[in-house]
Amino acid sequence: MGTLKKLQKYMEGRKILLPGAIILSAISTLTGMLPFIFIWLIVKELFASQNEFSLGLVNTYAWAALATAVGGVILYFVALSLSHLAAFRVEVTMRRKAMERVISMPLGFFDNNTSGKIRKIIDEDASITHTFLAHQLPDLAGTILMPLVSLTLILVVDWQLGLACLIPIVVSTALMGFMMGKKGQHFMKQYMTSLEEMNNEAVEYVRGIPVVKVFQQTVFSFKSFYNSIIRYKEMVSSYTHMWEKPMSAYTEIIHSFAYILIPFSILIIGKTGDYAGIITNLLLYLLVTPVFAQSIMKSMYLNQALGQASEAINRSENLTKDYKPLATSNKREISNHDITFEAVSFAYPGTDKKAVDNVSFSMKKGQKFALVGPSGSGKTTVARLLPRFREIDKGSIKIGGIDLNEIGQDELMKNISFVFQNTKLFRRSLLENIKYGNENASMQDIKKALELAQCNEFISRLPNGLETKIGVDGTYLSGGEQQRIALARAILKDAPIIVLDEATAFADPENEHLIHKALQKLTEGKTVLMIAHRLSSITDVDSIIVLNDGKIAEQGTHQQLLAQNGIYTKMWREYQKSIKWTISKESVC
Ligand SMILES: Nc1ncnc2c1ncn2[C@@H]1O[C@H](COP(=O)(O)OP(=O)(O)OP(=O)(O)O)[C@@H](O)[C@H]1O
Ligand SMILES: [Mg+2]
Repeated sequence: MGTLKKLQKYMEGRKILLPGAIILSAISTLTGMLPFIFIWLIVKELFASQNEFSLGLVNTYAWAALATAVGGVILYFVALSLSHLAAFRVEVTMRRKAMERVISMPLGFFDNNTSGKIRKIIDEDASITHTFLAHQLPDLAGTILMPLVSLTLILVVDWQLGLACLIPIVVSTALMGFMMGKKGQHFMKQYMTSLEEMNNEAVEYVRGIPVVKVFQQTVFSFKSFYNSIIRYKEMVSSYTHMWEKPMSAYTEIIHSFAYILIPFSILIIGKTGDYAGIITNLLLYLLVTPVFAQSIMKSMYLNQALGQASEAINRSENLTKDYKPLATSNKREISNHDITFEAVSFAYPGTDKKAVDNVSFSMKKGQKFALVGPSGSGKTTVARLLPRFREIDKGSIKIGGIDLNEIGQDELMKNISFVFQNTKLFRRSLLENIKYGNENASMQDIKKALELAQCNEFISRLPNGLETKIGVDGTYLSGGEQQRIALARAILKDAPIIVLDEATAFADPENEHLIHKALQKLTEGKTVLMIAHRLSSITDVDSIIVLNDGKIAEQGTHQQLLAQNGIYTKMWREYQKSIKWTISKESVC
């Protein structure tokens, strides 16, 4: 069975646990059948020998019945202990492996997978396997063995009564087959998908509450969350309805054996006159048939849990399927910081349009290049290819002549700092937040970085200075202040290559001036690739790359590009106009 094989893979060094649990449970099932046989033997002895039965023999049978019953329970307990150990191991290994795969993903993976989905798959899907492994799998052996043993017993003891009690069992089993078939498996897939969808939508919903409030929308504007709940509800209730009739029929029929067995026994007694023998056997059948029926019931749940576990494993393993982990052929060290893009092309997964189309440029160590272009032209995408957020489709990117594929991830991260538009600050102290840039930095280095990033003034206003916890007790930083903390982090990291996505959102001139100053400190003497929105800040860079529709449309210094009278010149004119507009607006105010 494919699913069992996959589960076994997650057992790592303890492969014996699962087979051990199954074998012990099988033995316990067989042992558990013995008391029935001993009781039957006692009744037989009592009936057969009338008043001259052997008390010693009955005693022995009684003790044997007790011993086998207790033995069966103990064995089952040990089997369950083993299966629990196995289940916890599988759960932990599944989570760890999924997490390892997720960590090895290029950072772009996180753009396309919501945190709700990742959490659900890593965490909940792993625990779904628990019920199956810990409780239902040990019953697997019983589920297969019990009907076989009961069937043999039923037919050997009295084939006529045996056939009679088989009638309800065969009819109900046929019904089961119908219920458990393809429909069941298809449902399991749909069920898990809609649970995942609901999870996603719930996270999106919570994240979007501020937008709903700001735009004074009602909660119903979150149609997709609402719809996902309705879809889930409809699917589950239609499935329940589908089961309603067959399930009721199954329960009725499987428990109806007594109605068939009793008249049937009377008929046989009428024919053979063997009261004692038939009544003794009838007793055995009345004891064994419910066990038989129960084991079929168990197999139904087992099948359902198996379907669920198999779907959970598939989801966990497929989470990263569309992404190649960052391959590193050999871990070479970077000794020189020249950067070259050679005919680089890249399309986002699931799209045909190239976001970066045949882009080539090269920058010498210590140079500053700027990326400009209309919105959607590919600036952010080009910048994020350098720290390897995404794997390129064609071409090559080299640092100091070494292809990114040959540079270890740690080495790459050590050499590049990137500052993005939306800074992520953790709910920790300011000091810890800054130390993400360099864990081993001395207090002196930290103070220097904060000074260079123009942070001192606002930190001195905070109640506990550097120890202030962000996001706690109403301590929040303004956008510009957060941006400067991010710059302090980058200054502290002191990487030779810097990738910058310049912030545009902070129009307040004071803040803009401070950020500009901090940026200058950060980029001094470094190799810099920056995305510029304010063209005035890049007039003195070594080269400006103008992107349009993923391609390089123009490239050169500010003066060269103005002389070309192309896209850049147009952008520059627009920019000048917007500044004039701002200045004249300010002078009016
Ligand atoms: N995660 C993504 N998945 C699919 N397509 C994307 C993704 N991110 C960006 N794109 C597409 O790639 C193209 C380039 O986007 P990019 O963000 O690089 O533009 P940009 O030049 O940085 O724009 P802006 O100035 O607005 O920031 C756009 O067409 C965009 O729709
Ligand atoms: Mg962008």
